[in-house]
Amino acid sequence: MSFARWTTMTRLRRIELFALIAAALCGPRSLQAASPGVPALPTATADYVKYAITDLPTHFASGAVASLKNTPPTNPITNAGATLGRVLFYDERLSHSDGLSCSSCHKQENDFSDPATKSVGFEGGLTGRHSMGLSNGAYYANGKFFWNQRANTLEDQVLMPIQDPVEMGTNLTQLTAELSATTFYPTLFQNAFGTPEVTSDRISKSLAQFVRSMVTYQSKFDAAVAAGSPTTPNYAAAGYTQQEIDGAGLFHGAGRCNQCHVTAAQIGDAPRNIGLDADNSADIGVNPPGVGQFKTPSLRNAEVRDGYMHDGRFTSLEQVVEFYSTGIQNNPNLDARLKVGGQPLHLNLTATQKAALVAFLKTLTDQSFLSNELFSDPFVQLAGDFDNNGAVDGNDLAVWKTAFGSTNGADADGDGDSDGQDYLAWQRNFGLTWEDMATSVAAAAAVPEPSAAAILSMAGVALATFHRRRRA
Ligand code: HEC
Ligand code: HEC
Repeated sequence: MSFARWTTMTRLRRIELFALIAAALCGPRSLQAASPGVPALPTATADYVKYAITDLPTHFASGAVASLKNTPPTNPITNAGATLGRVLFYDERLSHSDGLSCSSCHKQENDFSDPATKSVGFEGGLTGRHSMGLSNGAYYANGKFFWNQRANTLEDQVLMPIQDPVEMGTNLTQLTAELSATTFYPTLFQNAFGTPEVTSDRISKSLAQFVRSMVTYQSKFDAAVAAGSPTTPNYAAAGYTQQEIDGAGLFHGAGRCNQCHVTAAQIGDAPRNIGLDADNSADIGVNPPGVGQFKTPSLRNAEVRDGYMHDGRFTSLEQVVEFYSTGIQNNPNLDARLKVGGQPLHLNLTATQKAALVAFLKTLTDQSFLSNELFSDPFVQLAGDFDNNGAVDGNDLAVWKTAFGSTNGADADGDGDSDGQDYLAWQRNFGLTWEDMATSVAAAAAVPEPSAAAILSMAGVALATFHRRRRA
C-alpha cells in the first residue's frame, strides 16, 4: 500500500469514526424518503404497452369493452410517455408548496381513490367532492372526466387539479420552469417526446398516458370470463362460491346493476341520476342533461375505495347495497332503470341477498393491480443529495457544511438534524446520480468511492467543521 493511500485511508477512518460517534450519540434511525426528491426508475423501460395493450385479455382487447375506449389517436400510450407520467403523478413539485402530489388524493392501494370522504388540498382546504378511483378510466365512451364530467378529455382533466385553487394551487408557467430546472425531467421528456423541452402539453399527454395505462383486468371475475365468455362467465371454473354466484345473479338480474355498470368490465355507460336525494340542489352534477346526474363509476376494485358516491356519503359496500335495496329517492330526474311504474325501485333484498351482492362485488377486485410496480411511487431519497438535484456531489458537501448541526438543512436520514451520519451518507453516495438509482439498491454498492483528492479535501473540511462544533 502506497504512503498516499495509507494517509487517505487513515483520514477517512478518522472521519468515519467521528461520524459514527455522532451517529451513535443520536441513536438508531431509519432511512426515509424526503420529497420532492428524485425518481428511481427501472433500467429497462417499464413496459406499459405490454401491460395495457399487448397483454390485455380478449374481453378487454375486443368486443363491448374495447368499443368504449377513449384513447385519442393523438396520444397513444408509449412506454417512455407513461413512465414520465408516473413520475409526474407522484411528484410533489406539481403543487404550490411542493407538499402534495396526485397520489396524495389518488392512492394505489385504494384503486387510486382516497378513503377520506373529502380530500385535503395543498393549503388544508377540502375538495368539493369525493376523490374518484382511476382504474379503467380509459374505458368510458364519451371520454369525459370528473363526477360532473366538466373535463371534455383526460388530457384536459389532468392539468386541472394542478391549477385548482384548493387542490394543488400552482400555475403551469411556474411548474414547467421548476421541472426544467431539475436534473432528471429534461431526460424523461426527451425520452418521451424526442426533445428535452418541458411544456404543459407534454405534461398533459404523459399524465393522461399514465392514467390510461391503469387497466385492471386480473380479478376473479376475469378468470370466470376467460373460462367462459363475456356474457356467460364460467363461475365454477374460477372458484366462485355459491354466495358469489348468487350475487352475480342479482347483479345481472333483479338488481339491474349491469344496466349502468356495463360490460364484462363493469364500467360506467353515461351519467345517471340514481336517486341519492329527493332534492339535488346541493350538487346538481352533470347539467345538462339533467339535475343530479353523475358519472357512473367503474366497479372494478370498488371494494378497496372505502368511500362511495360523488360526496363519499357511504363508507362500505354494505351501505351502498342497502341504498340500492331500500334507499332510492324519487326525483324528477331519477333514471328509468331504477323505477317501476313511475316509482323508485325498492328491491327490499334479504340479508342473505345483500351479503351475496357484496360478495360478488368483491370478486371484481384485482390485487395484482393494486400493488403493480408500474403504478407505484418511483420517488426515493438519494441519500446525500442535500440540494435535491439528482446528483451527489461537491455542492451537497457545501450544503452539509452550512447546515451541520442544524435541525433540518442537510438531513439525509430523515431524523430531523444534520450530523455526522448525514455526512456519511454523502460520502457513501458520492458520484451517484438519479440515473444510477435505476439499478436500485445494487447501485449504491457499485458506486466508486470518491477520488483520493476529493476525500482529502472533504476530510479537511469535515474535520474543521467537527472541531468548530466541539469548541462551540
Ligand atoms: C387534493 C386532492 C386531489 C389531488 C391533489 C388530485 N386529485 Fe384528482 N380528483 C380529486 C377529486 C376530489 C376528484 C373528483 C372531483 C370532481 O369530480 O369534482 C378527482 C378526479 C380526478 C379524475 C377524474 C376521474 C374520472 O373518472 O372522471 C382524474 C382522472 C384525476 N382526478 C386525476 C388526477 C391527477 C392526474 C392529479 C395530479 C395532477 C390529481 N388528480 C390530483 C382529488 C384530487
Ligand atoms: C341507473 C344507473 C345505475 C344502476 C342501475 C346502478 N348504478 Fe351504481 N352507480 C351509478 C351512478 C351514476 C353512480 C354514482 C352516483 C353518484 O355518485 O352520485 C353509481 C355508484 C355506485 C357505486 C359507488 C362507486 C364509487 O366509486 O363511488 C357502487 C359500489 C355501485 N354504484 C354499485 C351498484 C350496484 C351494486 C347496483 C345494483 C344494485 C348499481 N350500482 C346499480 C349508476 C347506477
